Amino acid sequence: MSVRPGRSRAVPRDAVHHPLFARCYARFSVSAETRTGMGRVRERLLDGLSGRVIEVGAGNGLNFSHYPGTVSEVVAIEPERVLRQWAVEAALRAQVPVDVAPGAAEALPVKSEAFDAAVVSLVLCSVRDVPRALGELRRVLRPGGEVRFFEHGRDGGRVMSFTQRALDRTLWPPLSGGCHLSREPVAALREAGFTLGPYRRMRMPENGPALPSSYCVLGTAWRPPGDGA
Ligand SMILES: C[S@@+](CC[C@H](N)C(=O)[O-])C[C@H]1O[C@@H](n2cnc3c(N)ncnc32)[C@H](O)[C@@H]1O
Repeated sequence: MSVRPGRSRAVPRDAVHHPLFARCYARFSVSAETRTGMGRVRERLLDGLSGRVIEVGAGNGLNFSHYPGTVSEVVAIEPERVLRQWAVEAALRAQVPVDVAPGAAEALPVKSEAFDAAVVSLVLCSVRDVPRALGELRRVLRPGGEVRFFEHGRDGGRVMSFTQRALDRTLWPPLSGGCHLSREPVAALREAGFTLGPYRRMRMPENGPALPSSYCVLGTAWRPPGDGA
């Protein structure tokens, strides 16, 4: 296992502390698995992965049961204490070995180039520093390693984008555990030096009214094979 629990890279252990949001998310996210089709999205997100995987911002561990048997080990980083406890329980039920550890995306407590793949789902909206978090993902992936992402962000036309930005400046982050609505995950991955693979824009939930958080993207990106960063 490559987690280095005692080592802090300038981000404290409980870098994220949103106990109320964590309890709400744990409840809402479980019902969303079937109610909004999130379970099927997680299945597609992780399909075909193999080798050693790092999942960043694992929340309450809802991805864990969807990892295919070709994955040899998952290191799941979760900074929020309440969610991390749920993730530890989910790890016990997973079919592949999952090791849950504290840490933040901006300072991953693992060695460089230690993973074949990295997974982020609904996390880049919440990290404090997106370029730094993606720089860390790039560091811990082996050259040629892949990122699987499912994220929401800015879209939906001018009025919706305006609404997303207005909510980001006011109510949304404090009410939703630091989440932002108007980030652009695909552009951020490209700017961080990843090669974009296929990705698909989709609305969640797929049916019903579009919410400011509905505009999602599911896809793959790679650390370039010759990348010596
Ligand atoms: C909306 S939840 C998504 C949880 C999970 N990935 C999922 O798909 O259900 C956002 C997650 O990002 C985590 N998070 C927030 N800031 C983070 C950071 N700086 N580094 C790593 N994870 C972070 C939160 O603690 C939370 O678990």
